[in-house]
Amino acid sequence: MGAVYRRAIRKDANRLYDIRRRSIIELAPPTMTAAEAQAWAAKLTPSGMERKLRELEVWVAERGGIVAGWGAIRSDRLEGLYTAPEFAGQGVGAGLLDRLEGLMRDRRLPSVLAEASSNARGFYLRRGYRATGPQTPEGAWPIAKELST
Ligand SMILES: CC(C)(COP(=O)(O)OP(=O)(O)OC[C@H]1O[C@@H](n2cnc3c(N)ncnc32)[C@H](O)[C@@H]1OP(=O)(O)O)[C@@H](O)C(=O)NCCC(=O)NCCS
Repeated sequence: MGAVYRRAIRKDANRLYDIRRRSIIELAPPTMTAAEAQAWAAKLTPSGMERKLRELEVWVAERGGIVAGWGAIRSDRLEGLYTAPEFAGQGVGAGLLDRLEGLMRDRRLPSVLAEASSNARGFYLRRGYRATGPQTPEGAWPIAKELST
């Protein structure tokens, strides 16, 4: 079943907050410890999620009418990508990433910049991203992908 992509609305905030929290706690280990995943997940509060919806361009992927994942961009930066654990490994993340890259390409942006968590690094490298610098003090990996037109 294909995904339907749409812009997130304010009413999605609780679902998107929940997807982010569960995706990190359930999918990020064992690349990081459970305690590290908990600490990462706790960096965002429900009101922080509402702020993201105001400040970023957030897109959701729906499968069968259910929000299965979301991703956010700001200009040429990918600011987050999360798949609900019950939809993991079904192409939701790759489909969203494709969609967000397509939006940037349509806007004539030359490249996408992002910071990959250690668990998602391989996922991005297999999709044309390259490392652009050393691991940050917070443990993320700066990556970029050229967007050919
Ligand atoms: C990274 C993430 C968004 C990927 O989402 P996804 O919808 O599972 O991604 P896809 O199904 O498109 O691809 C996942 C890859 O894992 C493989 N996979 C297979 N079974 C899987 C499973 N049960 N769980 C996860 N991945 C699985 C897929 O085949 C695919 O492999 P590939 O990269 O060689 O093609 C998701 O793991 C996630 O939300 N992680 C926690 C938050 C996070 O790290 N976000 C990125 C922040 S930088």
